[in-house]
Amino acid sequence: MRGTSVHKYSCTLLFILLMIFHMNTHKDDDFEEIADASKLDIPSLPVIAARVLDMLSEEMLNADDLAEVISFDPAFTSRVLKVANSPYFCRGDKVSSIDEAIMNMGFEAVSDIVVMSALKDLRRGSDAIDEGLWEHSTAVAVASRLIAVQLGAGRLGEHFIHGLLHDIGKMVMNINFKEKYAAVIDEVRSAAKPFEEVEFAAFGFSHCGIGDYVAKKWRMPVEIRSVISMHHLTASDIADNEHAFDVLLVKAANYVCSELKIGIGDNYGFIEKDLAFIGLTKSAQIERLMEKVEEEYPKYKSFMLKK
Ligand SMILES: [Fe+2]
Ligand SMILES: [Fe+2]
Repeated sequence: MRGTSVHKYSCTLLFILLMIFHMNTHKDDDFEEIADASKLDIPSLPVIAARVLDMLSEEMLNADDLAEVISFDPAFTSRVLKVANSPYFCRGDKVSSIDEAIMNMGFEAVSDIVVMSALKDLRRGSDAIDEGLWEHSTAVAVASRLIAVQLGAGRLGEHFIHGLLHDIGKMVMNINFKEKYAAVIDEVRSAAKPFEEVEFAAFGFSHCGIGDYVAKKWRMPVEIRSVISMHHLTASDIADNEHAFDVLLVKAANYVCSELKIGIGDNYGFIEKDLAFIGLTKSAQIERLMEKVEEEYPKYKSFMLKK
């Protein structure tokens, strides 16, 4: 009898240890084996978005290229001009062409609007979760660009896109596994747990793994895939990776937005080393960034979240 209960306790202990080991070693590398990826409903990437992303990644996008890409699609051009003329973005006279918009608002702002207009088509539902997820991603896009400005890092358009797409896996999980994903979000919120931990427990993979799969399907540039797949890792995990700076910049933007509690975001603890890796070492820098995000975010939200 005693032997049986000892055996039972040993088995329970072994099971708990295996669970802890699994939680600490969970990886998304085998996402396609765990999930039946072929059955996933994945929104297709709008053609214009694909072209703009390609151009940005090749660092060859200038005002002429941008105007040319957009001019192929008159309906898209009028959407961009409508945003450019909206009260939030318009400074002074109304604009009637992309060239005028660039002169009036600057290339970076127009590039952001083009990217948002193109990626907005990825939005499927208008439920509260979809909205909360896009609110978070829009705020992280704005924060990523502001951090890049503060650090003098350049490639502002790219950092904006990284922020907008970093959690695309969450949107795809919400589209494909509605009820189960709503339960994940409930647990993340009520227990203040990290998203990946709850996702791994419920699905066996996280939004980083499924997001990377989607980005691969969309033939995204490698730095965007790195941001999507690694933005929950730490500086010591990825210090040697060639895209570590881009990845940790988006992580820093996530941190800023989680402090501001915008949308459905992550719970971040201590990320001082990650911030220091990209050059954010003073708390005053973070406070200034938070103020700037609060200032800039509403105009981007008004566009990205409007149906
Ligand atoms: Fe994330
Ligand atoms: Fe995030």
